[in-house]
Amino acid sequence: MKILVTGGLGFIGSHTVVELQNAGYEVVIIDDLSNASEDVLDGIEAITGKRPEFEKLDLRDRNAVSAFFKKYADVSGAIHFAASKAVGESVHKPLLYYENNLSSLVYLLKELTGKASANFIFSSSCTVYGQAEELPITESAPVKPAESPYGNTKQIGEEIIRDTAKVYENFKAIALRYFNPIGAHESVEIGELPLGVPQNLVPFITQTAAGLREELSVFGNDYPTEDGTCVRDYIHVVDLAKAHVKALTRLVESENKSNYEVFNLGTGTGSSVLEVINTFEEVSGVQLPYKIVDRREGDVVAAYADTEHANNELGWKSELTLADALDSAWKWEKKVRGIK
Ligand code: UD1
Repeated sequence: MKILVTGGLGFIGSHTVVELQNAGYEVVIIDDLSNASEDVLDGIEAITGKRPEFEKLDLRDRNAVSAFFKKYADVSGAIHFAASKAVGESVHKPLLYYENNLSSLVYLLKELTGKASANFIFSSSCTVYGQAEELPITESAPVKPAESPYGNTKQIGEEIIRDTAKVYENFKAIALRYFNPIGAHESVEIGELPLGVPQNLVPFITQTAAGLREELSVFGNDYPTEDGTCVRDYIHVVDLAKAHVKALTRLVESENKSNYEVFNLGTGTGSSVLEVINTFEEVSGVQLPYKIVDRREGDVVAAYADTEHANNELGWKSELTLADALDSAWKWEKKVRGIK
């Protein structure tokens, strides 16, 4: 069975391609290489022994998308990662984000709904919950007004898919709301490759430990949490990737309860910024230079997943620990920087 993975050379996409191929799916990747390198194909091949098909394509090009689906008429489902994801940039370039993240989605759905049957998995985010009233966060927690155009594209994306699944009986979809994906494949063949200065915590930590950044800024230690720093649910990217295979297989085997379903993907455990730093220091043996600075605008105090729905319905549970994830992220950073 052939599955299209858009953004398949990116961080979560590449790990998912590995797990799909390990599970016996055939994969064709679309990526525009705007935030990824074609070399990632070598890493995927080194791990799985199989090189996925690849088309360099910009999903905003409707004609190119149509031509792709004519060429690959045997594609029976898609996992859609391709999107811009820098929260800060999205505030300054809203139209770029709306065009890139939403027009591509619409074009994909137009093609897929024209097929006899199609399965669709969407990369969504726990950002849709904003600061939830209750923790852990269940899928029925209300969606809050988005803090950024990026966050809004995830909310609108979900709505577009929900509305589509309502009217096309041949179309089934699952939106996966990720908490904070980190780490790298244990083979150290693939990992996260952020462009420029990383905005996310873990790549900033590993780059600081590698000497690329002088010190880490901890954004606020006066939050109402145990140690005053924000709490997040950090999930190993390999666990996250495996959940995509479970979700896709659920649709393929028609085990879904409705044509549009939503799942949280997290570990269920919250960790503070200081806990992440301490765990990183333990697994790496590196003392991390850091200072406490002001809060970052738009950060929520605490977010971690209620994992019951994914556990019960997808039959999926995260298996790797925060220490595993930080260890793999550090090994990957050292490899990329040529550190022994
Ligand atoms: C961020 C996005 C979120 C997006 C997700 C995708 C924001 C406000 N949120 O989530 O919408 O879905 O990435 O990966 O950008 N921190 C530091 N110092 C740093 C970096 C981060 O203290 O240099 C802290 C943050 O305050 C936060 C935690 O580390 O408490 C995690 O931050 P980050 O990795 O950016 O993830 P989120 O903000 O949770």
